[in-house]
Amino acid sequence: MKKHDINAAITGIHAWVPEHVLTNAALSTMVDTSDEWITARTGIKERRILKGDDQGTSVIGIAAVNGLLAKTGTDPKDIDLLVCATTTPDMPFPATANIIAHAVGAGNAFSFDLQAGCSGFLYGLTTGAQFIETGRCRKVVVVGADKMSSIIDYEDRTTCIIFGDGGGAVLLEPSHEGVGVLDAILRSDGAGAPYLHMKAGGSRRPASLETVAAREHYVYQEGSTVYKFAVKSMADVAVKIMERNHLNPDDIAFLVPHQANKRIIDATAEKMGIGQDRVMLNIHKYGNTTSGTIPLCLFEYEDRLREGDNLVLAAFGAGFTWGAVYLKWAY
Ligand code: UT7
Repeated sequence: MKKHDINAAITGIHAWVPEHVLTNAALSTMVDTSDEWITARTGIKERRILKGDDQGTSVIGIAAVNGLLAKTGTDPKDIDLLVCATTTPDMPFPATANIIAHAVGAGNAFSFDLQAGCSGFLYGLTTGAQFIETGRCRKVVVVGADKMSSIIDYEDRTTCIIFGDGGGAVLLEPSHEGVGVLDAILRSDGAGAPYLHMKAGGSRRPASLETVAAREHYVYQEGSTVYKFAVKSMADVAVKIMERNHLNPDDIAFLVPHQANKRIIDATAEKMGIGQDRVMLNIHKYGNTTSGTIPLCLFEYEDRLREGDNLVLAAFGAGFTWGAVYLKWAY
């Protein structure tokens, strides 16, 4: 772990979800499931869905970034870099980040997408932070957003109950006060690919009448296998980042976990020794928004955060990818 003279501080956060609410009761009319099963197994009660023609992930990202710029009084022309973490880009190319940057007037920024499944926001935050730490950039926006409903099979009860649409964005700026992103452990293992992926629509198996007929353009997940890896990896990496930064459970203001399954979150908190009152949680309202979960949590808990608060962010997702970030809140 390298210490930097300049840290990347989060100096603002905003998030956005679409209006349409898909409840467990509504899902029970679409597939063979129940509110009781979904609540007990995942903690989810409802999720948001982005409706309408030609509405992609950029809609979520643009709303989040516009809110962020207004809130922080930032001139979009001052943004040096915009990173968008997403698994559901508007199109295979160009990058959704390019579309967002253009729409918000960030005409001087370079921008790119980053795909790391549900760990996308942590990868994006860490990547964006590097550009601040080196002094190359002074204002970096990191977006985490997904329109999961675009790749969900609403005839598959094992996946359609989990996912939702939404996202958020943070502004990163240099700090010499010892606050900001202080450490990150990011991991990946492609051996996990068979358990969580989309079978077609990429270069290996381009879209065809056959792939559409075989319903191969949706999330394929072997839930219990993913669950086992998620519980172990997310908890292990969160504990490891505590240990190497000499953090006791009492030193941590909040665990900010990826919201995939309440049981995975509980297991991670328990292994870290952190009580439920210090775990950010909104899975009941939004489900798993992939790259969107962590900024959505930070945004909703923003008014409970104080300058200098120690936060541990942790995630696990497709790839497999996983990781943890240690940051000190800056305001
Ligand atoms: O975010 C990125 C990574 N993704 C994750 O972290 C997700 C990890 N996995 C999970 O969260 C859980 O595995 C699920 C929520 C997807 C599934 O929960 P589970 O407790 O692992 O259930 P299971 O797959 O072991 O299935 C148990 C039973 C099965 O029935 P049988 O074979 O025991 O008769 C399923 O068919 O539950 C059945 N089942 C359902 N029943 C009612 C599966 N989905 C449903 C459903 N409603 N929606």
